[in-house]
Amino acid sequence: MGKIIAVANQKGGVGKTTTTSNLGASLGKLGKKVLLIDFDPQGNLTTGFLGSTKTIIKQDITDALTKEVSIKKTILKTKFDNVSVLPAASNRLAGIETQYASVNGRELLLKDILKEIKDCYDFIFIDCPPSLGLLSIQAFTAADTVMITLQSEFYALEGLSQLLNTIDQVRRRSNPQLGIEGVLITMYDARTLLGAQVIGDVRNYFYNKVYDTIIPRNIGLAEAPSHQMPIYYYDSRSKGAIAYLELAKEVLAANGN
Ligand SMILES: Nc1ncnc2c1ncn2[C@@H]1O[C@H](COP(=O)(O)OP(=O)(O)O)[C@@H](O)[C@H]1O
Ligand SMILES: [Mg+2]
Repeated sequence: MGKIIAVANQKGGVGKTTTTSNLGASLGKLGKKVLLIDFDPQGNLTTGFLGSTKTIIKQDITDALTKEVSIKKTILKTKFDNVSVLPAASNRLAGIETQYASVNGRELLLKDILKEIKDCYDFIFIDCPPSLGLLSIQAFTAADTVMITLQSEFYALEGLSQLLNTIDQVRRRSNPQLGIEGVLITMYDARTLLGAQVIGDVRNYFYNKVYDTIIPRNIGLAEAPSHQMPIYYYDSRSKGAIAYLELAKEVLAANGN
């Protein structure tokens, strides 16, 4: 049975998309079948896999959500081992928030369409937008767990109570089983004292939910998407590639693999 993990934090620029792509591709490299869903209207995940060719995609996540096209037809296989992508190739995804604002059962849209394909994959990751609106609620409703990414910076923990409140709200309304998969510290700079302090603060707050693996700030991770590659394929010996492979092993171990 496929496990669905929403990668979330309502702040932008904290490593959600980078984690979705690279953790996903690392799990694929380790033999797991993986689907990555771009659920951010900005479509950065899609650009990171498809570059400018994303403009020629006719059918994307929005067509699947509105059930105009079957979800199976919107999923694209990539050239990377065991990795498929469900693209957000147009900004129509943003329109879903208002289009469905007063429709009953709107939080179930994503969950409904994932039923059909859930068992085709070992892991399904949802790259959430930087907000706590309807799209994130749909993602949390569809997910088994939420993975929270935090940038290693002074304000890392700020705004987290809003995220945790939203998770609680979804548990009460539509998904009582929703768990926290883990908390990942990204963009860590070992040269600064601040980094060490942030790790301490995050561990005090989330205890054993924090991954041992910490993702360093690594230029390869920022460059790889412009070459339409996950870091493992762009520079497998970089610190970023090694860290995401370690994280993949940690995620597998936590899931009984
Ligand atoms: N560990 C890292 N080292 C260096 N740059 C990173 C790292 N993680 C992410 N980035 C870069 O930081 C920016 C924001 O990351 P991104 O994953 O897009 O965040 P989010 O999806 O949360 O908005 C991107 O330009 C990305 O390439
Ligand atoms: Mg993103």
